[in-house]
Parts: sequence; C-alpha cells; structure tokens
Amino acid sequence: MMKTSANILRSTVSVSTNQCDADCKGNSLPPLLGGEQEMSSQQRILTQCDLPLDALLSVTPISYQDYIKQGGYQGFEKAIHTLKSTGVHAIVEQSGLRGRGGAGFPTAKKWSFVLSQKSEIRYLCCNGAEDEPGTFKDRYLLRSNPHQLVEGAALAAFAIGAKEGYLYINGGFTEEIQFLEKALDEARAHGYLGRPLNGSKTGIDLYIAKSPGTYIAGEETALLSVIEGGLAKPKQKPPYYPAIHGLYGKPTVVNNLETICNLPHIVRNGADWYKRIGAGSGTMIFSLTGDIHNEGLYELPIGTSLSQLIETGSPQAKVKAVFPGGPSNAILPGDQINLPLDFDSLKAAGSALGTGAVIVFSEKSCMVKAAITYTGFFARESCGQCPPCYLGLENLTKILQKIDAGKGEVDDIKQIEQLCGMIKGRGYCYLLTGAVLALESILRYFREEFVTHIQEQKCPF
Ligand SMILES: Cc1cc2nc3c(=O)[nH]c(=O)nc-3n(C[C@H](O)[C@H](O)[C@H](O)COP(=O)(O)O)c2cc1C
Ligand code: SF4
Repeated sequence: MMKTSANILRSTVSVSTNQCDADCKGNSLPPLLGGEQEMSSQQRILTQCDLPLDALLSVTPISYQDYIKQGGYQGFEKAIHTLKSTGVHAIVEQSGLRGRGGAGFPTAKKWSFVLSQKSEIRYLCCNGAEDEPGTFKDRYLLRSNPHQLVEGAALAAFAIGAKEGYLYINGGFTEEIQFLEKALDEARAHGYLGRPLNGSKTGIDLYIAKSPGTYIAGEETALLSVIEGGLAKPKQKPPYYPAIHGLYGKPTVVNNLETICNLPHIVRNGADWYKRIGAGSGTMIFSLTGDIHNEGLYELPIGTSLSQLIETGSPQAKVKAVFPGGPSNAILPGDQINLPLDFDSLKAAGSALGTGAVIVFSEKSCMVKAAITYTGFFARESCGQCPPCYLGLENLTKILQKIDAGKGEVDDIKQIEQLCGMIKGRGYCYLLTGAVLALESILRYFREEFVTHIQEQKCPF
C-alpha cells in the first residue's frame, strides 16, 4: 500500500467530538486563490469544508439528526413517493453526472445497461476500495458524512430495481466502517432501509463488504469476486461486464463512493440545480499532494483551473510536473498546467481527470525516481494473472532502477519504449495500461533526464 503523503499514514487517530465543520475551522486551508472563483456555499455539494490531509483522521461524522436538519433523506422520500425509479433515473440522466471512480463514465448510461437486462434480481455495489496513491476523497466522505452515502446508495439501488446493495469499503478503514455501521443501523431504525417501500412488499437493504485493502481490489470485477468470497482478481471483459455478468451472475451496477454521494443532492434539488455548478458537471473532491505546503482535500467545481489549485497548495519550489488525475494517467509538464480541471480538457491534453488525485512534482524532483516509484507500485500491485502485466512491469522497473543507479546504457531508453508498446492494453484490466501511460508520459516530457542519468552514470539530483 502506498500513498504519496507519509503524514496520513503516520497520523494518530484522535477522534474529536466536533463535527466536520467544527474540525475544519480548526484546521483550515487557504481559500482558493484568485478571488472570483473562490468557493461559495452553492458551489459545494459533498463536504462542508476543505481539509488539510493531516486532519483527515480526526474528522468525525455529522450526526443523523444534523443530516436530517440539512435536508437528509428528503431525496429518498421524494424518490419513493413521487419520482419512482424511472424519475430518479431521468433526473440523474439530465444532470449529466459522470463517475468519479476513474473513467468518468456517465452514471445514468451505466444504469441503463443494467435496466435493459431481463432479470428479477439486480445488485448495486458501491466502490469504496480506495487505495490509489494520492487518493483520499472517499475516505473523507465516509468519515464526514456516512448518511450521505447510505442515502445515495439507497437511491441508486431504488433506481435500478436492486433490493440489495453492497457498500464495499477498504478493509483498512476500520473506524470509517464503524461510522458506516452506525449510520446503517440508524437508517434501518428510521425506516429507510430493510422495510417495505411505499406499498410494495419489499424494501432495500445495504450491507458492508470489506476489500482486502489492495489497489487491484478496487477494479470492478475484482470487487465482485471479493464480495462473492473469492480472490481480488479481475476478469476478462468481454464477457464479464458487471452490467451483464455481475454479482452472483446477475446484472450489477458498480459505482464509485463519491459518485453515489452526489445522488441525494441531485434528486432533492433537481438536475437544473446541479447543472448550474461546475460548468454543468458538479464538483469533485481533489486530493492535492506532493511537493506543496498545503496538502489537502479540496471540493471544487469541475472546471476550476489546475494551476490555481496548485497555487493554493503553495508549491515548495517551481513546479516541474503534475499528475492531474492520479498516477494511472499521463503526467503533464509544469508549463502545461494552465488548464481547467474537467473531463474533456484533460483528455484533450492527453491525460484524464481520473480520481482527482493531483500530485505535484517540484523542479527538485528526479523524474527517473518518480517513474520507479509508480511503475514499481503497479508492478507490486499486479494480481499476476497476465504475463505482459507482471513480467512487463517488473522488467520496466528493473531497467529504471538500473538507470537510476548510474548503470544505464544508451539502448535502455529504446528498450523501455519498445516494452511499453508491446505490453500496453494486453491485460485483463486497466492497471497495466494505466501504468504504461504514466511511464510513457514521464519519458516523453523528461527524456533529457533519462539521457543525463545514462551519460553521467549517476542521478544528477
Ligand atoms: C486497478 C484498478 C483499481 C481501481 N480501483 C478503484 C477504486 O478503488 N475505487 C473506484 O471507485 N474505482 C476503482 N476502479 C474503477 C472501477 O473498476 C470502476 O470503474 C468504478 O468503480 C466505477 O465507478 P464510477 O462509474 O462511479 O466511476 C479501479 C480500476 C482499476 C483498473
Ligand atoms: S492486467 Fe495486471 S492487474 Fe489486471 S488482471 Fe492482468 S495481471 Fe492482474
């Protein structure tokens, strides 16, 4: 398990009795620089405050009573009494909500695939496996507001006609799982879960499933396997698309935890309200880490400027490179970060919004070492089913280590490029392709550093 910030792993868990907003006042981050784009309360959907990373493990959840005071479960009431399942699906479709689990897939479209399957039984799975380096948003959402997740998952299950939903949470999030268990008990006690809904004979219930806390366990078919009691190993697609061959062979929606947390707000306030936020795409929680002073979790309208977010984070030195959407997408050089953080702009720049993990490298960073860090991580996390993945990534890591140790040869760079080309896209899942895209981008933009390592037979940093 690797995260870019050591602090969070070293932090002592000290649970304060304060609620999220009180915690945030004591641990504030600077507001987004640049005045006019400063967050207003209308531009915040999921959190009450931005949070320094160091403070994450001291956040405690808002109570059931406070959640209700803020309009909690009104979306669910509206769904079962007025909108019905088709109405919830229609609002989510009109909102244009896209998945926050990495690929940005339109949520309502994913639901449509499952709805089009002729099956009495369907399942909802909420993906809170979160173990990608530099990504902490789902943990923050779980800690700060578990009822928001419970309501969102109940809404998603209701919309797709699922009677059971699984909240699949990183098994290392021990305290967060306790917070979630309490929220589920409260939701059952107040009749939102486990009881017949609005005249029908059945209701919806949600269950917690623990992931083994590895990166690969978050891949959706690996998730299904773990919930069924198997190993965290992805399955080949086709044919194993969750919408068709999902949990226990039944049509299944797998949505990211942050995606699901948006649902209560969209259903309660409507699609037009949502489309007025973040250039029509809502907000996203960006996990900002790396060579900056203010590492933290920032909920920002999608479309906020990447360079503005980084400036707010207060870089430790001139910025050399940034992963704008986590380390399984392409890196961008420091002179190309004047971009809006949205799905299309980052795709056009050759990268992706991914999970919103913005990782900053200063001019003092060695990019060969950065390549070793991430390629090595993916090599270690490979589940070992596909030889191009586990052998290819292991070989790439060894060549990179050789270059870093001052033993590189002229042909090594060509060998890295050839190997990347040979293995990309040849695994059952995206782990391999993501790893290669990241490495290829580092080599593309910082080739000179690799050459210098080889020519000088040492690391110049
Ligand atoms: C190696 C790997 C790890 C993944 N880990 C996660 C994860 O921890 N959480 C998550 O939501 N999605 C993860 N995904 C993406 C899921 O497979 C899936 O696309 C996502 O949960 C769908 O949610 P969304 O449609 O709401 O974005 C991972 C994918 C891969 C290839
Ligand atoms: S690509 Fe890698 S991680 Fe994915 S299934 Fe194959 S071996 Fe496992």
